[in-house]
Formats: sequence, C-alpha cells, structure tokens
Amino acid sequence: MPNEQQVKAVDGISLEVFEGEIFGIVGPNGAGKTTLVECIEGLRIPDRGKIEVLGMDMIRGGEKTRRRLRRDSGIQLQAGRLPDRIKVLEAVDLFASFYGRPVSPIPLLRSLGLGDKINSYFETLSGGQKQRLFIVLSLINDGRLIFFDELTTGLDPHARRAIWDLVEEIRDKGKTVVLVTHFMEEAERLCDRVAIVDQGNVIALDTPANLIKGLDVGVTVSFSLDDTSILKRMANIDAIKRIEESGGKVVVYCSDKRGVASVINTLTESDIGFSDLSIKDPALEDIFISLTGREMRD
Ligand SMILES: Nc1ncnc2c1ncn2[C@@H]1O[C@H](COP(=O)(O)OP(=O)(O)OP(=O)(O)O)[C@@H](O)[C@H]1O
Ligand SMILES: [Mg+2]
Repeated sequence: MPNEQQVKAVDGISLEVFEGEIFGIVGPNGAGKTTLVECIEGLRIPDRGKIEVLGMDMIRGGEKTRRRLRRDSGIQLQAGRLPDRIKVLEAVDLFASFYGRPVSPIPLLRSLGLGDKINSYFETLSGGQKQRLFIVLSLINDGRLIFFDELTTGLDPHARRAIWDLVEEIRDKGKTVVLVTHFMEEAERLCDRVAIVDQGNVIALDTPANLIKGLDVGVTVSFSLDDTSILKRMANIDAIKRIEESGGKVVVYCSDKRGVASVINTLTESDIGFSDLSIKDPALEDIFISLTGREMRD
C-alpha cells in the first residue's frame, strides 16, 4: 500500500481465514500487520487487490459495505485512544450505542477485571487497565468477526491468561478471531493457524504445530560452564549445528535428539563442572527467528 512516502507496507499478500478459527498474524515491527488488518477491517482501502469478508467485497462494495462489516465485527486497534475525562462505563455505553446488538456491559467489564472501575476516568486507569478497556470495547458488539491488534501487550501474566481463555470462549461460540501478536507463546497456544508476515509478504502460514515440524530448527540444550574449553570438542559432533556462548552460558543447537545425547555425554564424561542444564524442543519463537532473522527492524 504506497502512501505519501511510497512505502509498500503490504505487497501481494494472499490468504484465507476460515470461519470459526483463531487466525494469528505475527511478524517483525513494521512488517505490515496493522496495515493488513486495517484493510480487512475496512478502515483502510488498498490501492490494489481483492478483499472479501463475510461474503462481502470490501473494495467494490464501497463505504456502505465497510459499514456493514463494522456492524458485524469487533475491532481492537493497536493504538486506541479515549478522552481522559470519559468514565469507563460511559465509554462502554457510548460504544454500545453504535451497535444494534450490544452485549451487557457490566458482566463484560467484570470478565475483564474492570468491575470496580466503572466510574473511573480513563486517565486514571493503569496501562494494562486501559488495554483491557479497549478489549471490552471490541467485544461490546456481538459480532461474528473479532480483530485484535496486539491483544495482550502491557498485560500482566494473570490478565494475559484470563484473556486467552476469553478468546477461546469467543472462538468456541463459532466466531472468527483475527489476532495480531508479538507473543509467540500466545500465538502458539491460542491460534489454529498462524501467518508469519515479513516486509509486506506472508512468508509462512500453517498451524503452529506444522510450522514447528516443517522447519528443521532442532532441539536446544542450554547449560552453564566455568571452563568453556570443552566446547571445541562439541563443535566437531555431527548432530550439533551451532554453539553460542556468552559469559559461561552456553546454548547448543542440535539437529536432533542424537545431538542432545552427545552433548550430555561429552559433559558427563569430562571433569568440567556444569550447571543449569535444560533441553528445549523448538517453539514457534525459534521458527519466527529462523525465518525472519535476528536483526532489529526499523
Ligand atoms: N500512515 C503511514 N505513513 C507512512 N508510513 C506508514 C504509515 N502507516 C504505516 N506505515 C509504514 O508501513 C509499514 C508497515 O507498518 P504497520 O503499522 O502495518 O506495521 P506492523 O507490522 O503493524 O508493525 P508493529 O509490529 O510495529 O505494529 C512500516 O514501514 C510503517 O512505517
Ligand atoms: Mg502493528
């Protein structure tokens, strides 16, 4: 989507989201995720391409169609804003008034831990409480399609887990959820399928399990050593792909479980002391790093 600076934020993405699934979109900063979901939501109009949502053509259908979609969906924007002096319940009532079928505000506020905050001004909420209020606002409409752009950013681990349960309940009611996230654990645990987006393109799309299986990122063994001379011996073992060491903390990337056995044998057969040994199967995060690299993006 070229804008005034001619940045192609999204370029040639083709994907299908199935009804009733939680569809995840992950990718580095600036990859084009927000631009992509805002096009699907009807908040941005792409220069080219075709977007069909709930059977409606979002581009040729014009503003009338985009308004119809908004009536049947819930949207949590990445950078939501509210006036400082609006009270929590006032904001929820205001958003509820936009829709024909709003859900009951108080139980929804309670389910997001904001039951005690209904008379608080927006400006007095903590960052995580504001984030939860934006989730309430995206769920106040009983829509078929829900979009979350960075669902649990800024939330504590309790709130994050409670919201994961809530999102699963939404999916189990037959609704479709499109979820942009930077938390690979969240995508792995919650999403039925995940698209990895980089530089405006989809570079992988599958179930988390298939993405993990499909890429040969292997198993990692981590441990701490006082004397790192033994690592030279390990580097010659076939099933070991890479060794990283910093300040005595070692991570060995093995291509398979044989490599893990070799690392442990080498450690136990030597006289060198080691500690904090742990073995980790590959996770979505490893796939993400392996596909998108380690460089920080602008
Ligand atoms: N209004 C705009 N004007 C100029 N460039 C923009 C604008 N909106 C987005 N971009 C650019 O488009 C690219 C994609 O941005 P986008 O917000 O879609 O990324 P993102 O994947 O959501 O990133 P993040 O993970 O940081 O939220 C970036 O290079 C960004 O700088
Ligand atoms: Mg974004």
